Amino acid sequence: MKSINSVVTLDRVDGIAILRLDSPPVNALGLALREGILAGIAAALDGGARAIVLICEGRTFCAGADIAEFGKPLVAPLLPEDQAAIEASPVPVIAAIHGTALGGGLELALACHYRLAVPSASLGLPEVSLGLLPGAGGTQRLPRIVGVARALDMMTSGKPVSATTARELGIVDALAREGHLLDDAIAFARKVEGASAPLPRVRDRKVADTPEEAAAAIARLRQQQPRLFQGFKAPGHICEAVAASTLNDFEAGIAEELRLFQDLLASDESAAQIHAFFSERAVSKVPGLGKEVAARPVKATGVIGAGTMGTGITLALLAAGFTVTLVDRDAEALRRAAARVEKTVLDQVAKGRLNEDAAKAQLARLTLAESVESLADADLVIEAVFERMALKQQVFRELDAVVRPGAILATNTSFLDVDAIAAVTSRPGDVIGLHFFAPANIMRLLEIVRGKAVHGDVLATAIWLARKLGKLGVVSGVCDGFIANRLMARRGEAADALMLAGASPDQIDRVMTDHGFPMGPYRMMDLVGLDVVGWDRENSAGRTVQEILCEAGHWGQKTGSGYYEHASGTPVVSSATLAAIDTVRAREGISPRPIGDDEILSGLLDVIVNEGAKLVEEGIVYRAADIDMALIAGYGWPVYRGGPMFWGDAVGLSGIVERLKARIAQGQPITLSPLLERMAAKGQRFVRA
Ligand code: COA
Repeated sequence: MKSINSVVTLDRVDGIAILRLDSPPVNALGLALREGILAGIAAALDGGARAIVLICEGRTFCAGADIAEFGKPLVAPLLPEDQAAIEASPVPVIAAIHGTALGGGLELALACHYRLAVPSASLGLPEVSLGLLPGAGGTQRLPRIVGVARALDMMTSGKPVSATTARELGIVDALAREGHLLDDAIAFARKVEGASAPLPRVRDRKVADTPEEAAAAIARLRQQQPRLFQGFKAPGHICEAVAASTLNDFEAGIAEELRLFQDLLASDESAAQIHAFFSERAVSKVPGLGKEVAARPVKATGVIGAGTMGTGITLALLAAGFTVTLVDRDAEALRRAAARVEKTVLDQVAKGRLNEDAAKAQLARLTLAESVESLADADLVIEAVFERMALKQQVFRELDAVVRPGAILATNTSFLDVDAIAAVTSRPGDVIGLHFFAPANIMRLLEIVRGKAVHGDVLATAIWLARKLGKLGVVSGVCDGFIANRLMARRGEAADALMLAGASPDQIDRVMTDHGFPMGPYRMMDLVGLDVVGWDRENSAGRTVQEILCEAGHWGQKTGSGYYEHASGTPVVSSATLAAIDTVRAREGISPRPIGDDEILSGLLDVIVNEGAKLVEEGIVYRAADIDMALIAGYGWPVYRGGPMFWGDAVGLSGIVERLKARIAQGQPITLSPLLERMAAKGQRFVRA
């Protein structure tokens, strides 16, 4: 075996060259691999190889370009040079695929003369999720194999296909046996080497669709999936590049692809999405908690409280394969929760998302119980009772008395002090906060709240659990509202201040949806319920717009009106809301002024960046990127904007500080984060390189 460089080796079996790529963890096509492939192909040909098998070591075939190289000056050889060398090879080059051939990995394979894959492999072009398009010929080669519609679907969804589907589509020429990829690739090479026909190259094929058919397919896609294109730039560019492939001038198509790729690479959307890619992976890393700290085994779980949250958590646990004992003293509440669990699971069968056997298995794993005694053997118990400290402490005392030692006791509190809950037990190190967002079976964010005493392996278990549930676990220290709700509370206050100053609730909501949020703060309040968030029924003094609306029974969608009137199709700001705003303005002596959209945008977002800076300086988060991920996963912050800290870096921290100071001077109750002020003064950034 010959070393080509640090990541590529060359072997020979009966005249067949085996080019092995080995760049852990995912064989991303960084410079060393690109150099190694180029030199390896040349060496194989110099050595008289009759065919070349390109295969990867480790867990996967190449999972794409090295994303870490994006944004830095590109260093040759680039992937197209490797592809050109492969396509120019006088002997067949065969890609042998296991794991995932993604992005540049699939593009590399598409330049090979043949592709072989084990059935468990998957292949795809996921660049769209990084705000990019496949920039190494993917938009030109894939349509030549699968046609325009399918290519568009794969590239705009970013979803990989299984090797079996790829075989049916013709992306893969043959399937190999699981565990025998190399043997089968060598056998395949023997079959095709020396054939008299010219070597097949995808670039030499014609796209089956005409330009008119491509235009129709693109129009259909835009009509059927308008949200793909909202705010996101890459899907439109992908359509343009694929349309170019139907002109059947390969080089011109490649030039068009490159132009579009470079435009995306320079875009804010792509920078934001790449930031989100790396941040998503960073959040699960806890400083000081190495891989040697193993998660505790969890199979049997318990949930206390059969309300909305408890039921949602139960659904999430069942779907992830856990057994769940749902406990509530109220037999009627238990019955209702069980019915909702059953309905939700069966609805998924009806929608074709779950097969009947899996549904039955999920439901069979649920047990109902009226006493915490039934949780004696649980590995993990999640408490989801009413949000009152005394009640939660009582539940934890009871749990402490019955649950086996070593089990994890979690609270789903959304703002209470986890340390004060842990303190009533004899095992505060085993207590943790698991803050789910409603609906708990759907929302992606799981805030993992670490109390002072929490054991490392309990934290590790919570991080493992989040992954198992398909959620994004973000670790937070103990503070009021933790990460996401604490930040969004500041946005709510800023919105109210601007509403009194002259903006209308629907203007404020529109500015937020224009920015990419699924809904603005007032529509959200109407959905959640004005009575649920921030209204203290016993001490309501009718001083704020929310209090006035709540006292008059306008609690949001569930009562037919809140900030908006929901009776007719499109919600309109209600006359009660306008009257309440007038009342408060009159009392506070505010004469309304016209407020521009820009003032609303910065007014609502600057305070989030300011509060985010406080989370960093208080050590509530490990890194600023955690804040971005919490808001993307928990509040639908548009991923193509990268989250608040990324946004703050992009618009400039010094501008934010200036605007905040001006608002403070106007008497707004904002306190400036010293960290934000310091970083702005030094021209530093939170997350952007
Ligand atoms: N470039 C650079 N680094 C990459 C990478 C890429 N294309 N793909 C993955 N990595 C890194 C991750 O950042 C992570 O690094 P870390 O361990 O330091 O956090 C590591 O490889 C493992 O990735 P992870 O996603 O945690 O592993 P996984 O087994 O869950 O998933 C993949 C593997 C390949 C499916 C997944 O990483 C992925 O989808 N990668 C991106 C593929 C892509 O978009 N390719 C097109 C690029 S243009």
